[in-house]
Amino acid sequence: MLLALLATLNEIMADFNVVAKSSHLLHLFLLLLCFVLAAKTGRVSGLNYTKYNRQVSRLRLERIQKHLEKINKPPLITIESPDGDIIDCVHKRKQPALDHPLLKNHKIQRVPPEMPKMKRMKHDEAKDRRENETSKKGSSRQWQMWHGNGTRCPKGTVPIRRSSMHDVLRAKSLFHFGKKQRRLINPARRRADAPDIVSGNGHEHAIAYTRTSQEFYGARATINVWDPSIEEVNEFSLSQIWVLSGSLDGPDLNSIEAGWQVSPELYGDNRPRLFTYWTSDSYQATGCYNLLCAGFVQTNSRVAIGASISPISQYAANQYDITILIWKDPKLGNWWMGFGDDTLIGYWPAELFTHLADHATMVEWGGEVVNSRSNGQHTATQMGSGHFPGDGFGKSSYFRNLEVVDADNSLSSVRDISTLAENTNCYNIKSAYNNEWGTFFYYGGPGNNPRCP
Ligand SMILES: *[C@@H]1O[C@H](CO)[C@@H](O)[C@H](O)[C@H]1NC(C)=O
Ligand SMILES: *[C@@H]1O[C@H](CO)[C@@H](O)[C@H](O)[C@H]1NC(C)=O
Repeated sequence: MLLALLATLNEIMADFNVVAKSSHLLHLFLLLLCFVLAAKTGRVSGLNYTKYNRQVSRLRLERIQKHLEKINKPPLITIESPDGDIIDCVHKRKQPALDHPLLKNHKIQRVPPEMPKMKRMKHDEAKDRRENETSKKGSSRQWQMWHGNGTRCPKGTVPIRRSSMHDVLRAKSLFHFGKKQRRLINPARRRADAPDIVSGNGHEHAIAYTRTSQEFYGARATINVWDPSIEEVNEFSLSQIWVLSGSLDGPDLNSIEAGWQVSPELYGDNRPRLFTYWTSDSYQATGCYNLLCAGFVQTNSRVAIGASISPISQYAANQYDITILIWKDPKLGNWWMGFGDDTLIGYWPAELFTHLADHATMVEWGGEVVNSRSNGQHTATQMGSGHFPGDGFGKSSYFRNLEVVDADNSLSSVRDISTLAENTNCYNIKSAYNNEWGTFFYYGGPGNNPRCP
C-alpha cells in the first residue's frame, strides 16, 4: 500500500513538474515521507514495526541507500516471488562474494568438488531406497517459494534475494545488518558459563556437539522444517549445523553455518528460510548471513539463499525436511555446501578463514533462539516445532542422520555426541540412535510456559 502511495506521489510530483535538485534527493524525500507514514500507521505488511517508529534522518537513508547499491548487484532479470521477495538473477562473476579484499584474485571454482564418500553399512541399501524416495520431495523443483513464479534464472546467473530499505531499517544499525550477534558458548565449560548465558544477550540453545577432539572436514544432517512463532521482531529461531575451528572463548573462532531460520528482523516476515553464515573472528567484524556481505560464492542457479522454504511440516500431519552437507573439497580446500542428495549450492573460499583453512575441531547441530525477555519474562518464541522432544515424530522437530566428514573425505555416522540445553524447561533436546535415522535427536520447545517464566 505504501509503495502504491509512493508511486502515486511520484506521479503527482512529476505532473506538477516539481524541480528537485536531483531525482535522487526527491526519491529520498519520498522515502522519508513513507517512513513517517509507516510510523503513523504502526504496522507495515503484517508485522509490528513500532520497534523502529522513529524518524529516519536523510543522512541515514542516504547511507543505507549507498550500502544497498553496493550489495544489490544489477540483475539480468528479476523474479517476483509469491511471498513478496524480489529475486535478482545476477551474473555469476558480478555476485557480492568477489568484492571481498581477500578474493581479489579469486577464480570461481569451475571443477566440481570431490563429493565425500559414504561409508557402507549393512542397513544402507534399504536406507538408500528410502532416501531416494524422500529426497525426490526434498530436491524437487518447487521447494523454494519463488520457484512458484515459474521463471528461472538464466544460465550463468545466480538468484540473489534483494535487500530492501525496510530490511536494513529493522536492524539495530547498518553495521549490524546481516550480522549475527551471538553470545558464544563453550559446551565443555557450560556449567561455569550457564548463568552468564541465560542472563547474557538472551541466546538460548538446544544442541548436540561432537565430544572427541578429532579433525573434522565437514558435517551433514537432515533437518525437519517448521515455522516457529517469534514474539518480538528482534528475536529469531533457527535450526542449523555449525562447523567450528579456533577457540570458543577467544576472538578468533572460525565458524561456517547453514540451516533454516525464522527472523522477522532480517526478512520482515515469519517464514522459515534457508540461510548460511560465516565468521573468521568470533562474529565481530567478519562474515554475515547469506550473501549480505562479500564472502560466500554461489554457483547454483536454482537455489536462492535467504529464500523461504515450502512446504513445511504440520503438527501431526505431513513432515518435511532438508538435507544439508558442508564439507571441505580436498582438491582446492574450499568449504562447499550441498543440498539434498547431490545439489551444490556454492562454497566458502578457503581464503576467508584462518583455522578453517585447515580443518574443523568441533561440529554442532541444533536450535538457537533469542529470548529478549520483553515485559520482564521469557518470551514465547518457539524453537523447532514449539513442542518438547518428548512429543516425538510429527509433533517435535528433529535432526536425523548426523554425520561427519573425516580426513579421507568420507562421511560416517557420528556416534560420540553430547547434548546441551541451558534451560530444559524452556527448550530441550533428546538424542538417540537407530538403524534408519543413525544418530538423531528431537529438540525444541515453546519458550514461555509455567515452568519457564
Ligand atoms: C505493537 O507493539 C507495541 C509495543 O510492543 C504495542 O503497544 C502495540 O499495541 C502493537 N501494535 C499492534 C498493532 O499490534
Ligand atoms: C514473476 O516475476 C515477474 C517479474 O518480476 C512478475 O512480473 C510476474 O508477475 C511474476 N509472476 C508470478 C506468477 O508471480
